[in-house]
Formats: sequence, structure tokens, C-alpha cells
Amino acid sequence: MRGRLPPARCEGILTAPDRSAAPSSTAPPPTGATWPAADRDTTLTLTEPPHAESWARHPEVRIDLQPHGYAAPSAGLVDGSVAVARLRLPIDGGSDWLPPQRPGSHLAGHAQELHPEGRQHPPCPGRDMTTPQLHRRFPALERTLPFLRLGDAPTPVRKLTGTGRDDLWCKDDSGYGSGGWGGNKVRKLEWLLPELRRRGVRTVLTVGATGTNWGLAATLYGRELGIDTVIALVDQPEDEHVREQLRRLRRSGATLHFTRSKPLTMAAAPWLFLRHARGLRLPSYLPAGGSAPIGVLGYVEAGLELGDQVEAGELPEPRCIVTAVGSGGTAAGLALGCALAGLRSQVLAVVVNETLPLATVDLTRLAGRAAAVLRRRGAAFDIPPPRLTSTRAHLGRGYGHHTTEATAAAQVAEAAGLHLDPVYTAKAFAAALTAAPDGPVLFLNTYGPRT
Ligand SMILES: Cc1ncc(COP(=O)(O)O)c(C=O)c1O
Repeated sequence: MRGRLPPARCEGILTAPDRSAAPSSTAPPPTGATWPAADRDTTLTLTEPPHAESWARHPEVRIDLQPHGYAAPSAGLVDGSVAVARLRLPIDGGSDWLPPQRPGSHLAGHAQELHPEGRQHPPCPGRDMTTPQLHRRFPALERTLPFLRLGDAPTPVRKLTGTGRDDLWCKDDSGYGSGGWGGNKVRKLEWLLPELRRRGVRTVLTVGATGTNWGLAATLYGRELGIDTVIALVDQPEDEHVREQLRRLRRSGATLHFTRSKPLTMAAAPWLFLRHARGLRLPSYLPAGGSAPIGVLGYVEAGLELGDQVEAGELPEPRCIVTAVGSGGTAAGLALGCALAGLRSQVLAVVVNETLPLATVDLTRLAGRAAAVLRRRGAAFDIPPPRLTSTRAHLGRGYGHHTTEATAAAQVAEAAGLHLDPVYTAKAFAAALTAAPDGPVLFLNTYGPRT
């Protein structure tokens, strides 16, 4: 029988065994080499065997109970009431979340649930109901890949003046998003949120830096669908831009955990999952920046949109499209979308984050995983490999550290009517000013602040 697990009773239990404090007569539990780890297999210490047994019945958790007489004083445990458990946590946000599909199985049922009145999209007052490019191009996806319009497409393209080059264009996604935050994250959420809703997810766990645009957008748009967001925040260099973003995050309704560094976040991950479980349901994990393959589709959509704009003569086919890279989804999706649209443009991925693998090969792999999702969901296509190059030339001292080139570039952009942020878009714009001298170059403005 599955019992409810009050998360509060699990609090404080995921402390690494304090070996120094262990009485010599009672050896610490055999946590092995897996602690601390954010792997799928993580060894944890649970305070009370009855709770551990309940977790053992959790469908997503594999648990081997080993009652143990050890108590870690630092964790405040009661002597003799400790179990060592091996959890298999659903850290699977990188997959496309779906088990193998049988034709006409639960997805078809879900399509009905999402479209109760035979509409193509769930009713959502005040939203633009236009059909996404991916659904138009691959009608099979309408039933398998839910979409929720959150902004007005297409976003505008325009030639920039006064930048020192006369072949520089901008596709301006800053206005994208009708909620409390805008920019590139909204396009990812248009695919991620309905997928989460389809799975009945009520709590999302994600990660970001203290000024995370992603975490803010996920919280604000998720909230509208009744999805709560928990964010583990790692430190970044603090400036007024970051402090202001943190104030927005605090007001947003997100639950914030200041885990400070990547290793500490990984170590805390099991505790965070259990702490925010609702009954037997663990939170659903979304990777940094929303760059799960389904999130990447947001920029596949943008690439297709751009293809239409080129075809309509709104801008010349760019030789090079420049975008900032924090978690990779935007650049990977854009390159895939351009390939699908038949554009020959090369995406220049300007890496601003040294803590994730974001080399050309990694981004190309991510684009491949997004393409695999599309194929699995019923889209058939044959395209050349996405054209994408990653560069760290504008990273400077690392994520969130200002560079003089980016600061100067932001001023040039301001004069051309673009308000950029120092962490992402200013560095990408610095690259755009010198990229592909034989242009045309298209700069993607991904920064979408609201008040
Ligand atoms: C304003 C802005 N631009 C660009 C990016 C990079 O996008 P991605 O995480 O998809 O690489 C982010 C987020 O990371 C962002 O917040």
C-alpha cells in the first residue's frame, strides 16, 4: 500500500554521515563512494525506517533498506533508528521524459484533455492562439507535442544602425512573452509547460545562478498553470543587475535554496527532491536554462520563423546568427530550426558560462537530441547537420564577470535601441560586432526584462 510521505518528516536527514563524530563502537553506515553525488544512484541516510520503507514503494525510487545502528549526532538522529537507503532519483530532465509510445496510447488521450473543445491549443484567456510552426509543418506533432502560446510571434527583425557595420540585423526576442518576464526562456516554456502539465507535474525543481532569468520565467509562467518552482541557486558575481534580479525572484513566489556552488547543489539534490515531494510525487527536474530537448524546441520554432521572414524578404539570409549561450538550448534549437527551414546560416554560439559543457560538439549533440524528440513524436525529415560553432572568446573571467568589450558593446547597442544585459547579450553583441566580416550578421536579442 502506498502511504503519504509528509516531506517535513524527511527534513534534515540527508546530511553526509559525520564520520569524525561517530562513536568508535558504531561504524558509520556504508555510504560507499556515492556520497556526495548527484548521480541517479545516491546513497542517503533516512532517519526512520518506516519512512524509508514508504519511500521504497515510490514508483520512481529504488531503495534498498539496511537498518543500521549508527546515529550521526550532527544530524540529530535518534540512536538505532537509521536506515541506509539507496535512492534512484528521477534526475531525467535531459531526456524527453516519455516512455516508449504505443500509437494511440495515453498521448492521444492527453491531446483530448488539452483540447477539450477540439481546439488546437488549450484555452487560455488573453493569449495569441496562433498555431506553432512545428505543428503546421509536421501535423502529426499536433497530437503528440502539446504547445502553449505565451508570446506574440513572429518577433520583429530590423537592421541596426550606428553600430559601425552596415550589415548587422537583429531578431528581437526581448518582447516575447506576455507575462512578468520575457525573452528566450519564454519560447522554451511554451513546450516545457504543457508537457509538464500533461504529466500532472505540480512542482518543478531547477537550478540557476542568483540572477537567473530562466528561474524567474519558469516560476512566473509555471505559476499560471498551478506549477510551483523550486530553484537551487549558485553564486555569481554580484552587481546591481544581479541584486535586482534576485529581488524579482523573491517576489515571484519561487522557493529559493542558496546552494551556492555546483558541487553543493549536487550534494543537496536528493534532499531537495525529498523536501519538495508532494505525497509520493517527487518534483520534476528541469535542467539549467530549460535546455532539456523539449525546451530546445522553442528555438527550433524561432529558426523556422526566421526562415519565413527571410523568404518574405524582411531580411537577407544571414551568413551568421549570433546568440549568447548559457545552457545551450537557444543556440542548438536555432541551428536545428534553421536547418529545417533550409537556411544556410551559421549559428555563432557565444559561450558565457564555463560551468557547463558547451563546446560545438555538445551543442550539436543537444540539437540532435531535440531532432530525435521530433522524430519520436512523429515528424519525418531529412536535413543536413545543423551549422553551429561555439566560441569562448567573449567569456572573460567567467560567468557573470563583465568584460570591457561587452560593456562597450552594450553602449553601442543602447544607441541602436537595444537594451542588453551584461551577463549574456552584451557579450554576444560584442561578438556580433566583429563576426563574419562579409555578413550579413543577425544578432538574436534574448534579453527580455519587464518591470
Ligand atoms: C538573456 C539570456 N540570453 C541568453 C541566454 C542563453 O540561453 P541558453 O541557456 O539557451 O543557452 C540566457 C539564459 O541562459 C539568457 O537569460
